[in-house]
Amino acid sequence: MLTASERIIVALDCGQEEAMSLAQRLQGHAQWVKVGMTLYYACGPKIVQAMHDAGLKVFLDLKLHDIPHQIRGAAEAASYAGADILSIHGLGSAAMIAAAREGVQAAASDREERTKLVSITVLTSMNQESLASIGIECSLEEEVQRLAALACAHGSDGIVCSPQEAAAMRQLLGPDALIVTPGVRPVGAALGDQQRVATPAQAIADGASMIVVGRPITQAHDPVGAFDAIVEELKKTN
Ligand code: C5P
Repeated sequence: MLTASERIIVALDCGQEEAMSLAQRLQGHAQWVKVGMTLYYACGPKIVQAMHDAGLKVFLDLKLHDIPHQIRGAAEAASYAGADILSIHGLGSAAMIAAAREGVQAAASDREERTKLVSITVLTSMNQESLASIGIECSLEEEVQRLAALACAHGSDGIVCSPQEAAAMRQLLGPDALIVTPGVRPVGAALGDQQRVATPAQAIADGASMIVVGRPITQAHDPVGAFDAIVEELKKTN
C-alpha cells in the first residue's frame, strides 16, 4: 500500500534551474518527480541523478517508440541513468514492449529495484478523427483497451491514462497494474489547458495508483503548501 505522498508525482515541466530549485524546496515532502522530454533533452541523464541526490524518485517520461533492438538499449540506458519509472508507447507492439522489459531487466541487478515500465495507449491529444486519419477505425475506447491489455501482457508494469479511464483500466488490468494518471486538479485549482480533469482523491478512488500533478504545485505561490494540501486530501480517502 502506497502512502499518500508516494502517490503524487510532481511534473517538472520547466528549465533546469527552476526544476532544481523546486526539487530542493520539495525535499522531505515530495517523493516523486516527473522528468519529461524537454528537461531531459536539455540536461541529459545527469538530471535524473540530480533528482536522486535531492532525495526524489524519477518518472522518466520519454515515451519510447522505435524498433525493438533500439528500445532494448534505450530502456537499459534509461534504467542505468536512474529512471524509477519509464514510459514507452504501446503502439510499438508486443515485440517492442518485450524488448523494453528486457532492457530494464538487464539493468536490474545493478539497482535496488527494477525500473517499472508504463505504456502510453492513445495520446489524449488524439480523438476519433485523428485515429481514423492514421487508419485506425475502431472506437477510441476499444483502441485504448486493446493497447493497455497488450502492453501488460508483454512486460509493461502498467499504463498512463486519463483519470476518466482509470476505473475501466483498473477493472481490465487487475489490482497489480501500475496506473498513472495526469489531468488532475485539486478543488479550486486553475484548469490551465486541461479539459477533462478529476480531483486527486477521485483519481485514486477510481483506481489510479499514482497521479501526476504539475502546475497546481509548481506554479503555486507556495509549492510545498500546495503539495502538502494534496497529501492531506488523499489521506482523508486513503
Ligand atoms: O501542469 P499539469 O498538472 O497540467 O501537468 C500534467 C503533466 O502530465 C504534464 O507533464 C503533461 O505533459 C502530462 N500529461 C497530461 N495529459 C496526458 C498525458 C500527460 O497532462 N494525457
